[in-house]
Parts: sequence; structure tokens; C-alpha cells
Amino acid sequence: MSEVENRPPVIDYEGSDYQQAFWEHGGREYEDQAEGIALRRLLPAAGRLMLELGAGAGRNTLRYQGFDRIVVLDYSFTQLQQAQARLGRVDRYIYVAADAYRLPFVPSLFDAATMIRVLHHMAEPEKVLRQVRQALQPCGLFILEFASKHNLKAILRYSLGRQEWSPFTPEPVEFVHLNYDFHPAQVRRWLGETGFRVERQLTVSHFRLDALKRAVPMGMLLKLESLAQLTGDWWQLSPSVFVAARAVGETALAPGRGIFRCPECEHFPLDETPQECVCPACGLRWALIDGIYDFRQPVGSNA
Ligand SMILES: C[S@@+](CC[C@H](N)C(=O)[O-])C[C@H]1O[C@@H](n2cnc3c(N)ncnc32)[C@H](O)[C@@H]1O
Repeated sequence: MSEVENRPPVIDYEGSDYQQAFWEHGGREYEDQAEGIALRRLLPAAGRLMLELGAGAGRNTLRYQGFDRIVVLDYSFTQLQQAQARLGRVDRYIYVAADAYRLPFVPSLFDAATMIRVLHHMAEPEKVLRQVRQALQPCGLFILEFASKHNLKAILRYSLGRQEWSPFTPEPVEFVHLNYDFHPAQVRRWLGETGFRVERQLTVSHFRLDALKRAVPMGMLLKLESLAQLTGDWWQLSPSVFVAARAVGETALAPGRGIFRCPECEHFPLDETPQECVCPACGLRWALIDGIYDFRQPVGSNA
């Protein structure tokens, strides 16, 4: 099997209207605001460089106001075009099309990273977590959201015999192709094994039920949600969990010049022109198109 065939599969959001269909016309104001509350609690007041993994159309990016610069990364080029239309083609945002399993950044670059509603598409979560750890500085902050299989609805359904898979066991459940729910204890274990220390957990979207969202005024629902989130370090029974984790252990020093490395051979720094980045080691050329760096496939080779 070739190296390319060996890579973990990536879900395809190219051309998707996810932002419009799911968020803007999908009746998900409560879920969006609940995530906003969690992020305000977990984000530092200020920072230098943030990496947003699987940013999609940039729904959360404006919430990272305290950071000087933000790398907005997604595998889908069209999602990044939507993010660019929302946030602007300005210095503050660096748009990068890349696979989270093969990050194109020099080690120890970022002081913080977020990954929200993305881990649930990962067939090999540990591989991604290792990449994120490598990209973070020592003591860097990682805010990770994941979909939890250990939620109240799944527990009730399982107890009543209406669901075959157990919400109590550590293995992920793939409920739709490339859509996984994880056990919170297993995610904590993976974080520990990949060089993170969990500092805080918030349970999120406790009241994700259409009937409740219709019956209870939004302001009231969000007040209750805000309180319920604070129980996250004691128990996790919500469908979504936010974890704030700190990078621990040995970290290579950032080289201090350039931000990109070659996703193929991991050499850095790359030679940059206004049209492309070129790897001086393996010769692969990576395009820069309309303000978006594309590190998914090389456009050619100088080798
Ligand atoms: C459910 S959307 C979430 C988008 C955004 N984080 C939000 O919460 O609005 C998942 C995003 O993850 C991206 N994604 C999935 N697998 C990826 C991978 N291997 N590398 C980079 N991005 C990925 C998809 O392209 C998609 O935009």
C-alpha cells in the first residue's frame, strides 16, 4: 500500500453549505451560543498566534479576539473561501487548506489551538492530537470539543434496550460513516498519551432537544446551560464536551523564521514566493491561491 493510500480518510466538505444549512437555517442558535459561553470561559484574555483546526466557514473565529493572529485551517478549500468572505483577506488571518493529520507548521509555533466539532470526523484521533501537540509551544493551550457517547439520551436509550452500542465502554461509536462519538475518559486518556494535561472540562449543549428549545425562552435556556456547564469536571452527561488541556513535556524549539514546514518530508523553513511555498529538501511546491495556502496536494516538484 502506498503512503497516500495509508493515510487516514478525510471527510469531504468541499462545496458543502454546512454553515448555512446547519447553523444559519438549522435552528441552532442555542448550540452556537452555548459554545460561545464555553469558549469565553476557556480562552485566555490575550495571545499571540492561534491555530483553529477545522475552522469551516469561520463560525467561531471572531470569538478569538484576544489573539494577534489566527491561522484558519480546514481541509476544504470552499469552507475557507466562505471564512475569508466572512473575516476578510487581512494580515490578521492566515488561511491554510491542509489535512489535520499532516500539519504544515514548524514545531512549537502556536501559543494556543482550538478544534471544535472536528474530532468527531477523526478515525485516528491520537494521530491528530500528536500533530497538534507538536505545533504547540511548551505550556500551549489546546481547547478541544468532542461529541460524547456518554450522554444522557444514549444512556437512557441503552438502558431501555433501544440502542445496541454501550455508552459506557471506551471504544468510539461510528454512527454514520466518518462520524464518531467518543467516551470522555478515552479522550482524556488519549490527551495524556499525546503530551497534554487536562486542566478543565465543560459539558455543553445540555438542552439540545427541539421540544425544550421551543418551550423555554432562549435567554432562560442559556442561563441554565451556563450553570450546567460548570459541572463538567465532576461528570459528563451532555452530548458535547469542551476540554482545556495544556501541552506538557519536551518540545522542540521554534526555529524563529517562517511558519510553514513541508507536510510531506517535514523540512522547514520553506522558500516562499507570492505564488507558492517550495520545500528546499524534497522540492515539492505548494500553491498560494487567492490568499489561501494549499498544503493538501503539491502543485509540482522542483526535484
Ligand atoms: C462539522 S464542521 C465544523 C466547522 C467549525 N469548526 C464549526 O464548528 O463551525 C467540520 C470541519 O472539519 C473539517 N475537517 C474534517 N476533517 C479534517 C481534516 N482531516 N483536516 C482538516 N480539516 C478537517 C471539515 O472540512 C469541516 O469544515
